[in-house]
Amino acid sequence: MRWQQILESKTVTCHQSRIHPPKTKMAFAFQRHCWAHPVLRHLVKLRESAKPRGVPEDIQTQIQTCIDCILARDDYCDEISSPVSEDIDNLIKESESHPWKEAHNEGKVELAVSAAMLSGSLEGTFLKTLVGMSNSKRVLEVGLFTGCGALAMAEALPADGKVVTCELSEYVGDVARKLVDQSPHGKKIEILIGPAKGSLEQLAVERQQFDMVFIDANKEGYIDYYKIIMDNDMLTPRGTILIDNALHGGQAYLPKDKLQLDESRIAQSHVMREFNDYVYNDNRVSQVMVPIRDGVMMIRRKEAFEGEA
Ligand SMILES: C[S@@+](CC[C@H](N)C(=O)[O-])C[C@H]1O[C@@H](n2cnc3c(N)ncnc32)[C@H](O)[C@@H]1O
Repeated sequence: MRWQQILESKTVTCHQSRIHPPKTKMAFAFQRHCWAHPVLRHLVKLRESAKPRGVPEDIQTQIQTCIDCILARDDYCDEISSPVSEDIDNLIKESESHPWKEAHNEGKVELAVSAAMLSGSLEGTFLKTLVGMSNSKRVLEVGLFTGCGALAMAEALPADGKVVTCELSEYVGDVARKLVDQSPHGKKIEILIGPAKGSLEQLAVERQQFDMVFIDANKEGYIDYYKIIMDNDMLTPRGTILIDNALHGGQAYLPKDKLQLDESRIAQSHVMREFNDYVYNDNRVSQVMVPIRDGVMMIRRKEAFEGEA
């Protein structure tokens, strides 16, 4: 199996920042897998400690089999789903080879962004499917990065459809603009640069409404973004809000000592739990948690969620 190569590399660890070799497609995919699966992080740690402690070979093999099974499941979901367009495939490759670290060190990008932020092919196809099956015409995205999700959703829109997307960094927005404009669907994408809160407040003043909203930016901003959208009636009556990273690598549902994460990440552990609780207690909506990738929560107005007797 193709994962074997990366799993057998002694330099791979379960912490994102220490994955080696860094700029390969598999390394980024493995980063994303580890980030999303707390069980995988524990198993990788177990595998690392098994050999030096003299754990019998057959047990070590079983640990490896568990890791392989988790990876094979996600791999299969990706491979058996319809492939992304050539334009999105190209966008993903360009995002993976872009010198993000250098751009950050030179002060061009405010945040330490990386290709691990990409929504990727499986989630891109998922978003495209949802936009198409809901007959959405106007889509709002919070958190653009290089435009993978935005372009996937734009591809499902009619010719007069629109994706309005918010991105903090001008540099990242410029990279995204160039990449999405390589597609004939790029013209449907409008990029708003600056903190998303300000962009959303401006859209609210303009009384703009959206059929589909995809929130995929800084997690501590999610409650604000959700409130601006719901309190200002920015969601069309039958619209849907999609929340990315709703499971947040297990942080939404596991206690800290079960997370197997760096301290810096654990510091944020309450954020997604608080957001999910906020939505759960909001009487205006109904929601479902979909465990794809790092979790996507789908939220709709209660009236839209229920059928008629
Ligand atoms: C996970 S990435 C988005 C991935 C993208 N949706 C996709 O489909 O590939 C998050 C993005 O949100 C941006 N971001 C972070 N904080 C933000 C803020 N306060 N306002 C707007 N964008 C922000 C980051 O610069 C980054 O590009």
